[in-house]
Amino acid sequence: MLPSMILRQFPPMGVYETLFKFVDATHKYMGDPGTHPWAQGYPLTTQIPGGPTLPKSIEFDASDLNYPKATGEPPLLEAIANYYNHFYGAGITSENIAVFAGGRPAIFATLAFLLDDTTIALEKTEYTPYYDVLKVLDRKVHLIQSDSSNRFRPSLEDYQIEPLNGTSRVMLVKSNPCNPTGVATGGDDLKRLLEQFSSENTGALIDEAYEFYCDPEPESALKHIDNIDDTNIFVIGAATKGLQVPGMRIGWAVASKAHIEIFRNYSSFGMGGVSRASQIYVTGLLEQKRVGQARTAICSFYSEQRKRYGDGLAELGFELFTGTGGFYHWGRLPQELTGDEFNDRLFAHEAGILPGRVCDMGRTDAAPSALERYARFSFGPLRAESYDDDMRILRECLQ
Ligand SMILES: Cc1ncc(COP(=O)(O)O)c(C=O)c1O
Repeated sequence: MLPSMILRQFPPMGVYETLFKFVDATHKYMGDPGTHPWAQGYPLTTQIPGGPTLPKSIEFDASDLNYPKATGEPPLLEAIANYYNHFYGAGITSENIAVFAGGRPAIFATLAFLLDDTTIALEKTEYTPYYDVLKVLDRKVHLIQSDSSNRFRPSLEDYQIEPLNGTSRVMLVKSNPCNPTGVATGGDDLKRLLEQFSSENTGALIDEAYEFYCDPEPESALKHIDNIDDTNIFVIGAATKGLQVPGMRIGWAVASKAHIEIFRNYSSFGMGGVSRASQIYVTGLLEQKRVGQARTAICSFYSEQRKRYGDGLAELGFELFTGTGGFYHWGRLPQELTGDEFNDRLFAHEAGILPGRVCDMGRTDAAPSALERYARFSFGPLRAESYDDDMRILRECLQ
C-alpha cells in the first residue's frame, strides 16, 4: 500500500495549467512546430531585425567545471554592474548583485526571507507566479486596485498603504512593465514611487523582466535610486526576455550589499551557485556594444509588433487595455467569452491564450474571477511573418 503523501500539495502556476490543458487537447506542447503559442511568455530566441546574433557555443576550461561562487562569477557580476552603471548611472558594484537560476528564483528568495511582520502590497492584476509564491509562503497581502475601473493603471495615491494588522512594514511587489497588462511606470512617476518605498519600514521588489520591451526606450528603477545601499529595494533582472535566452536560466537581484550577503548565505546552503556555463554565455551577451544593440532592436521590433497585433485584435472586437511595455496584449474578449471558452475554440487550431483569471491576485475558489472574460495574448514568440495566419485563426474562432 502506498503511504500517504509527505509533501504539501499545490497546483501548477497558471501558465503551466494552461500548457498542460493544451497538451491534453492537442497532444502537442505549446511552442512545438505548427502550434501558435500565444499563452507563452518567451521571446524569439533567434536574431531579430537589427538585433545581434546569438552565439552557438562557449569556451571554457577545467577550472570552469568547479563550483561557482555563491552569488555569481566575478565576470558576470561585473558585466551586470557595468550594464546598469553605463545605461542608468546606477552607481553599483559587483557586491550589489546576486545571480540566480532565472528571475523567478530571485523573486522567490527575496519573498522567502522577508521578515514575517511585512505586508505585501500587490496590484490586483499581476504576474501569475506571485499568487502562488505568496500563497505557499503564507504572506499577508494588501491588494491595490487594478482593473477596468482604473484601466489597470493604479495612481500613486493607490500605493499609499498602511501595514496590515499584526505587521509593521510594507513591501511593494511590482512587475514593471507589468505582465500581463504591459503598463509601464517610468520617469517621475517611477521616481516618486521608489521614494515612497524607500522610507522607514518600507521596501520594494521591482521586477524588470521586460525592461528592454518598452516604448520608446528601456528604463530601470536603478536610474532613480541614488544609493541602493540605503534602501530595501530589490531590482530583479533576467537574461530571459531582453537577452532572449530563457533556456540559460540566468536572473539576478540588485540590492544593498547587506541584502546580497543574505543571498550569499542562502546560496551556500540552498543553491550552491548557478551553472558556470550559463554564466559564461550570458556574460558575453552583456558586452556593452552588443547589449546596446539588443536594447534598441528589441524595443523597436516589439513596439512594431505591439502596434500591429493591437490594431488586429481591436478590429476583432477585443477591448484592449495594453500599456507601452512587455510583449503581451491585455484585454476583454469579444462576445462576452471567457478566457477558457475561447481556449476551447483555439485549441482546435493548436493555438491558445492565457485566461485572464490566472492573473487575478485576489481570486478564490468561491466565486468566478473578475478577470474571467479577459485574456493575455503573447506576441513574444511570434515572427513578423506569422501575423496573417494568427489573425485568420482568431477570426475563425470568433465567427
Ligand atoms: C514579470 C516576470 N518576471 C520574471 C520573469 C522571470 O522568468 P524566469 O524565471 O523564466 O527568468 C518572467 C517570465 O515570464 C516574468 O514575466
